[in-house]
Amino acid sequence: MSGKVVLVAGASSGTGRATALYLAEKGYRVSICARRKNLIDEIVRKINSEGGIAYSETVDITSWNEVERFFDNTVKKFGRLDVVVNNVGAGIRYTKFENLTINEIDDGIRINLISVLYGCKAAIPVMKKQREGYIINVSSILGKRSRSGLAVYTAGKHAVEGFSRALWNEVKEYGIKVSIIAPAMINTEWAKKAGIEKPFTSGKMIEPEDIAHIIEFLITLPKYYNVWSVDLMALSQTIDPL
Ligand SMILES: NC(=O)c1ccc[n+]([C@@H]2O[C@H](COP(=O)([O-])OP(=O)(O)OC[C@H]3O[C@@H](n4cnc5c(N)ncnc54)[C@H](OP(=O)(O)O)[C@@H]3O)[C@@H](O)[C@H]2O)c1
Repeated sequence: MSGKVVLVAGASSGTGRATALYLAEKGYRVSICARRKNLIDEIVRKINSEGGIAYSETVDITSWNEVERFFDNTVKKFGRLDVVVNNVGAGIRYTKFENLTINEIDDGIRINLISVLYGCKAAIPVMKKQREGYIINVSSILGKRSRSGLAVYTAGKHAVEGFSRALWNEVKEYGIKVSIIAPAMINTEWAKKAGIEKPFTSGKMIEPEDIAHIIEFLITLPKYYNVWSVDLMALSQTIDPL
């Protein structure tokens, strides 16, 4: 049992859920949040009934007050914060940029970028005090490449990558590491929510559990070096030009 405390933002479904369950099974204490209370409550019940330790709060990650409260309560409950996985993100609506409403544009930036900025803003003071910590920001292959129909998502994820690089330069002197995970399509609710009817691959997709394994791998690496970015794609998929 490592006992490390891992906070996963956006854990009611997909990669966040898989990460919370996998890390709890591995002996990490997990603190999770999302908006769908019934789903995060169910995850906590499952973890606790199987001998793990989990805490959850209903949080809209685009509200600073809610983020601050959640981080404070996590530290009060567990006494520390070793890892933060900023995993919230959404494609909003798969359509040309010109068709998006102003609210959808704002939501796209708030959910994909502001969520990460708030998660980092809340994590840094705690980790700085501890003189150690690890921030893992879930980006996308669209943080490095682009796809028409997902222009605002692409913008948000590119921003997450640039921000994370700058942030790491600022915080490494406090023993805080920052990594990015940049997957291509994962087999989750994400595509359906954005109105993508046919996945961008007809073959086997990356599974949420694959991302959970990568996160655990990153957490277990020695403290003296940092893996900057993990980029991954199923063999059946490509984004041209790559
Ligand atoms: N699936 C893919 O193909 C793919 C590929 C590359 C990168 N990614 C990235 O991977 C990450 C996880 O996505 P996923 O594929 O696992 O999709 P998902 O199942 O839709 O997970 C998104 C999570 O974010 C939460 N969330 C969304 N808005 C929120 C808000 N305002 N406040 C709090 N929580 C919020 C959702 O919970 P609630 O709705 O309950 O709030 C959910 O738990 C995202 O950053 C996504 O962009 C996904």
